[in-house]
Amino acid sequence: IPAQDIRNFSIIAHVDHGKSTLADKLLELTGTISLHQSHQQVLDKLNVERERGITIKAQTCSMFYKYKGKEYLLNLIDTPGHVDFNYEVSRSLAACQGSILLVDASQGIQAQTAANFWLAFNQDLPILPVINKIDLESANTKSVISQIENSFGLDTTDICLISAKLGINIDKILPKVIEKIPHPNGDINKPLKAFLFDSWYDTYVGVVCLMAIVDGKLQKGDKIVSAYSELKYEVSDIGIMYPEQVPTGYLHAGQVGYAILSMKVAAEAHIGDTFYHYKCPVEPLPGFEPAKPMVFAGIFPVDANEFNKLDESIKKLTLNDASVSVQKETSMALGQGWRIGFLGTLHMDVFQQRLEEEYDASVIVTQPTVPYKIVYRDGKSKFVRNPSEFPDPDEMSYNVVELQEPMVMATIILPNDYMGVIMDLCGGKRGEQVDYNSLDEHRVMMRYTLPLSEIVTDFHDELKSRSSGYASFDYEDMGYKASDVVKMNLLINKKPVDALAAILHRSQVQIVGRDWAKRLSEVIPKQLYEVAIQTAIGGKVIARETISALRKNVTAKCYGGDVTRKMKLLEKQKEGKKKMKMIGNVELPQKAFYDFLSKG
Ligand code: GTP
Repeated sequence: IPAQDIRNFSIIAHVDHGKSTLADKLLELTGTISLHQSHQQVLDKLNVERERGITIKAQTCSMFYKYKGKEYLLNLIDTPGHVDFNYEVSRSLAACQGSILLVDASQGIQAQTAANFWLAFNQDLPILPVINKIDLESANTKSVISQIENSFGLDTTDICLISAKLGINIDKILPKVIEKIPHPNGDINKPLKAFLFDSWYDTYVGVVCLMAIVDGKLQKGDKIVSAYSELKYEVSDIGIMYPEQVPTGYLHAGQVGYAILSMKVAAEAHIGDTFYHYKCPVEPLPGFEPAKPMVFAGIFPVDANEFNKLDESIKKLTLNDASVSVQKETSMALGQGWRIGFLGTLHMDVFQQRLEEEYDASVIVTQPTVPYKIVYRDGKSKFVRNPSEFPDPDEMSYNVVELQEPMVMATIILPNDYMGVIMDLCGGKRGEQVDYNSLDEHRVMMRYTLPLSEIVTDFHDELKSRSSGYASFDYEDMGYKASDVVKMNLLINKKPVDALAAILHRSQVQIVGRDWAKRLSEVIPKQLYEVAIQTAIGGKVIARETISALRKNVTAKCYGGDVTRKMKLLEKQKEGKKKMKMIGNVELPQKAFYDFLSKG
């Protein structure tokens, strides 16, 4: 099929606006899946999704479609559905020549609609607006049309109004895709330039890469090289997604499909990477970035005996997920564990959940930290991803000129009535308003710069609860900014507990310091001595709680008589002791850390 008869497009939408339903309907319409298959299809994909971790995806798929007597090859390129994966969305868009912007007729433009629109717009992609769910009684199509015109400046003269669920006007979409979206501009006679935009790990065949062939031709048996890693691979299978992998033996310029290379782990497939034929290097496509974890946390087994098992489980999980980074970490308080980097907090939550559910592990996760940048007197700088690497007060005063923290640009869309409470929330999180526009008479779109560290904790939950669920939120990277951050230690009888240190902004030290001391004092069992819990910055104490002493005499309850019962109790107490950690002279059960950190 010549490149003129190919269209590569994506559907971008806010969560739940109907992207998967529409994709399924397009596959049905083109006969790519049969009607009774479509249900089955969804089920199959869920399995694959589970396998590949959290990239919550519909499907990347090829379709054949006859229009005005000519057959076209249409490639629907899927984009991940969550803000943690903005980079991946931008790479998926880089493999397309246009996008369908799908908006729910009853919900209107939401934060992810806007964020995805800007990603596509900045890549100069033509954008076809489509309004979905016109069957709903609460549909407000007119207002949504004017939102699209006013906020995005898109032409809505012959906008498609559809119901993906009921199949209304689905047939109007593909003719528009063919007419309004340009064909890919590749040259089959030029040296190979292949663009990797997605990948996953398949238990049977290994790493599957999705590629867009920009120039040239890629064939089974070809030897190719990654422009980023310079590693060499051989193509063992290649073809199109129709809707499953269908081998074709080759892909040529303009086409999109899968390729199986001899890659061992998903981490070798760098999204955004360019491949070329061995000994035929080409200029790589712009915009590539290696995976950049932005949220780091320590993960430790609740039971130290589980270390090896957990190590295996973490290895298996990361085999599937190229975007996590893993390093071993040793904590005085929590023992052996790992420092794991994630793209965002959803990514982190899902990782933890999968460890617990699929691998039956109980883990302690420390307070997440974003990467802070330390700028030294000699102009050099370094990133700190763990409070234990934070410069000590001496080093700070002699050697450090500036501390910087990562910032984001957040887009928040919400009903007018909640503006006050949400502005308070953003202000309390050190946010600064950048602009503010009315979407219609009921809703506004606000943009704020916020420190990333403030939104990796409870920002999203707070936003939802304070707006009764009506506010939506998305963000993008904004680089680093100077910031007055400090390291706070938690001390138990004057001994700092490494796993409980945190880096925070000076303005929050008082509130967080008091809260932490109080919460820690609530989870530490009484000891034979009095125990002092303090939070401190350097030598300066911020807050203190005291746990009074208790002589714990378990046998006192036994009235002397029953010896076996007494033995059992003593035995039990010994068991309990084994799981205790000594911090200074204080005995701590690992569970105290778990309780403290999971209630955070
Ligand atoms: P994510 O996969 O979470 O990103 O959502 P999505 O955008 O893929 O949405 P999905 O297709 O899963 O649809 C979300 C919900 O909206 C489902 O319950 C669909 O049945 C429903 N839905 C989709 N299209 C329509 C429509 O045209 N009308 C109505 N009434 N409901 C629809």
